[in-house]
Amino acid sequence: MDWTELTNFAVSLARASEAEILPYFRRNTTIEVKPHVDWDPVTEGDRAGERIIRKMIEERFPDHGINGEEYGIKKGKSGFTWVLDPIDGTRSFVCGMPTWATLIALYAEGKPVIGVVNQPFVGDLFYGNPGGAWNNYCGTIEPVRTRKDVKLADAAAGTTAPELYRSERDQRAFQNLRKAVKLMRYGGDAYFFSVLAAGHLDIAMDAGLQPYDIGALIPIIEGAGGAVGSWSGSLPAEGGNIICAGSQALLEAAIAVMTS
Ligand code: IPD
Ligand code: CA
Ligand code: CA
Repeated sequence: MDWTELTNFAVSLARASEAEILPYFRRNTTIEVKPHVDWDPVTEGDRAGERIIRKMIEERFPDHGINGEEYGIKKGKSGFTWVLDPIDGTRSFVCGMPTWATLIALYAEGKPVIGVVNQPFVGDLFYGNPGGAWNNYCGTIEPVRTRKDVKLADAAAGTTAPELYRSERDQRAFQNLRKAVKLMRYGGDAYFFSVLAAGHLDIAMDAGLQPYDIGALIPIIEGAGGAVGSWSGSLPAEGGNIICAGSQALLEAAIAVMTS
């Protein structure tokens, strides 16, 4: 199958959402808080971003399903479902940090085949499909590849926050990995997974993810030659405890340490 047309459409969705989201960034916008165990903000930027994406999908592909964080699930009549997180990293967004991103995935029969990660304030857009993965930085497009042959002790890793490893078992898994790697960075949300695809980070991981937190990242990481897994047996495309690495060997070494 030629994924070019659908990939171009997915990128156009991300571009359209920029105009809806950016007016709320660094504007001290109104913050609502979702009922959640953590402080979980949502803004009109999140909602407006998802609304324009859904509208464009419904006009062009009315039989496709949609699963978006802010407006929920619309069942489709085809094997295709768009999985959307209009602002991943809303906590960074409301703090004025440009490390949030818009995540757009296309699932075909339950498998993510196209992914887009867009950070429009920086001008950094990543996308992937079964043919590879690319970075469009301010208009310059280059293929991305993960860094290979990195041993666990030399690896640079990233995760959003240590407190997201809630259970004793997950906290132990996280601490085991933190001690085994060279460097652990925090606060990156989906951006960590994108820079892993581009070969600047070796491991990216997060606990308790939803499909819309990870779906867009899988085609980008796999298209860049990286590996996607879970330390607790969940299917990555369905969310859960996700760990990604620049190579299959590094992923296996990391999971072995986490589960030891
Ligand atoms: C959050 C990010 C974060 C993950 C959290 C999510 P949001 O999404 O994906 O990396 O660790 O579990 O809630 O709320 O900023 O879209
Ligand atoms: Ca998210
Ligand atoms: Ca979100």
